[in-house]
Amino acid sequence: MLPWGWVFLWLLGRQRTGGLSTAGCPTKKLLWTYSPGKEEEFVLFCHISGPWRSCFSHENQCSPTQSPKALPCRHQGDLAEVRWYRQHGDVGPLEEIAGGHPHITPNESMLYFRTPELAEPGTYICRARLRSAPRVDVPCCFKTVLDVRPQTEAPCNASAPHKQFLLLGTMGSIRCPRLGCQADSHRPEVTWYQNGKVLSGEKSDSILVDDIYDYHQGTYVCDYALSPNASSWIARAVVHVRTIVADTKFKPDIVYPTQDVLEVELGKPLTLHCAVRFGFQRDFNPVIRWYIKDADREWGFPTFQEKSIKSTFEEEVIECVVFLKEVTWRELGCKFVCFAQNSVGNVTQTIRLKEKRGGVLLYVLLGTASTLVGLLAAGVLVYTYWIEILLLCQIYQSKDETLGDKKEFDAFVSYAKQCASGSEAPSHVSEERLALNLFPEVLENKYGFTLCLLDRDVAPGGVYAEDIVNAIKKSRRGIFILSPNYINGPQVFELQAAVNLALSDQMLKLILIKFSSFQEPESLPPVVKKALRVLPTITWRGLKSVPSSSRFWAQVRYHMPMRHPRGRVGRWLGAILQTFSLERTRWIRNCCNELTV
Ligand SMILES: *[C@@H]1O[C@H](CO)[C@@H](O)[C@H](O)[C@H]1NC(C)=O
Ligand SMILES: *[C@@H]1O[C@H](CO)[C@@H](O)[C@H](O)[C@H]1NC(C)=O
Ligand SMILES: *[C@@H]1O[C@H](CO)[C@@H](O)[C@H](O)[C@H]1NC(C)=O
Ligand SMILES: *[C@@H]1O[C@H](CO)[C@@H](O)[C@H](O)[C@H]1NC(C)=O
Repeated sequence: MLPWGWVFLWLLGRQRTGGLSTAGCPTKKLLWTYSPGKEEEFVLFCHISGPWRSCFSHENQCSPTQSPKALPCRHQGDLAEVRWYRQHGDVGPLEEIAGGHPHITPNESMLYFRTPELAEPGTYICRARLRSAPRVDVPCCFKTVLDVRPQTEAPCNASAPHKQFLLLGTMGSIRCPRLGCQADSHRPEVTWYQNGKVLSGEKSDSILVDDIYDYHQGTYVCDYALSPNASSWIARAVVHVRTIVADTKFKPDIVYPTQDVLEVELGKPLTLHCAVRFGFQRDFNPVIRWYIKDADREWGFPTFQEKSIKSTFEEEVIECVVFLKEVTWRELGCKFVCFAQNSVGNVTQTIRLKEKRGGVLLYVLLGTASTLVGLLAAGVLVYTYWIEILLLCQIYQSKDETLGDKKEFDAFVSYAKQCASGSEAPSHVSEERLALNLFPEVLENKYGFTLCLLDRDVAPGGVYAEDIVNAIKKSRRGIFILSPNYINGPQVFELQAAVNLALSDQMLKLILIKFSSFQEPESLPPVVKKALRVLPTITWRGLKSVPSSSRFWAQVRYHMPMRHPRGRVGRWLGAILQTFSLERTRWIRNCCNELTV
């Protein structure tokens, strides 16, 4: 049921719009006399009044307890929508004036004419329609017959302008243009409007204002009858009133830039902003621009954008923006000047562009610092793991020097036998235990070397000296565990024999283990004395050196003959190295060759 009701109402509404009768509309005849060539505006009101006031909800609102049926009051929200039409001829069709018209602008219940020369005389009709209450029994319309004529007689001196200014806080008056020339006795009664609302108290040709406030600003309209005949034409004039402060006595004031130097990056685009505060002036002709100046000339800089960024009664701040695509060395030598001027005078602010160095310097410093730290870390690593690196190189090089040298042992171990085979403190490792237990345990069992221990591997029975020489000859290395016992005991002969053999045998190399410190006895053979000075020496550091992962064993292994990786660790290292890329291995090979040269 309900939808059909709405359709009926809609049809009814449509019918009313389509069949608009303009006959019942109240009519006013308005005359616009304009001064040719001058800027002037005109405005039409939708004067729906009297019994038609109910067309406008805001003019006649219901009190909260009132029923909307008790017309002519309206509820809030029933706002009227005003449409303007132009009628061709007296009974011609209506043409709606929409927003996009170039010279006529409908604004709420008013219609503005911007250009007198282009205003068409004729009949203008406004209609008010309530958005939510279509059933209005009265024609909500108003008809204006407009005549537009240029002023033919010479303008009178006393005629008031269409733009008038009121100084805030003072006393002043708003005068109706063109009326001032008539003699007082002939002056007609005037109806004044401010922003479309009638000022019922004002009937004379000017409005006196005792104390001017900003709400006095606005668009005023004065209407007066051209003859006492009620059906006669009514003349209308529009006055724009602006409340102002007194003109400034000061030059403009540059808000920014305030600095003289601007840091820029070469090659980057640059935007320069200049904001200038201009004091109020009635005839306001602000100038704001940028120009460039070098040693002997100056030239303009095209303004990219100029906009007002703040506007009050007293002042206006205008910003001028210029844009530079790229900062080059040329610009660094120039001065950029922001120039601002009003009728009082001019001001400038000059800035020089400076290359931003801080950033580059910081990068350089950071770069240097991180490189140094990196080098330091690498140095510490290389220092700490030097032996490991060399071992890695040896293993990688995989030159097996044990092949085809006809030697039986990797190392001959020479040590001092303990005379007093007494109790050995658990915190102390004797040199004998080092030679007989730790050396085989680590070098033989863990790393696969073959050791020659005289007591273990040489069958007794031969001549001692001959046995020694033979055993050393069959070994690739001679390891000598030096201590006061050793250096002063009979075993020093083994060292002497080995040195002599090593002088003639390139494949035999000697390693000294400094088990504990000792003093060289005078009686030591000179060849041994020299050997002690030049041969590689590894220091035994007691219990710290016992674990097979200690630096002591790494150093020993470094001096031991090179073989194919045989132990677990060797295989592991080999596997790691195989995963290196070709380039990397080539680099390592070169590096290793250099290290081992
Ligand atoms: C209508 O007039 C008011 C006050 O005169 C103004 O603020 C507003 O911008 C105008 N609207 C249009 C669409 O012109
Ligand atoms: C109008 O101005 C002229 C000169 O500009 C002057 O001679 C004349 O007296 C003025 N008339 C009035 C009514 O002020
Ligand atoms: C008023 O004007 C109308 C026509 O415009 C005329 O018929 C009428 O006589 C006039 N009345 C007076 C008092 O001038
Ligand atoms: C700026 O003002 C000075 C006087 O203060 C004047 O000599 C100069 O010509 C003015 N510059 C411009 C461009 O108007």
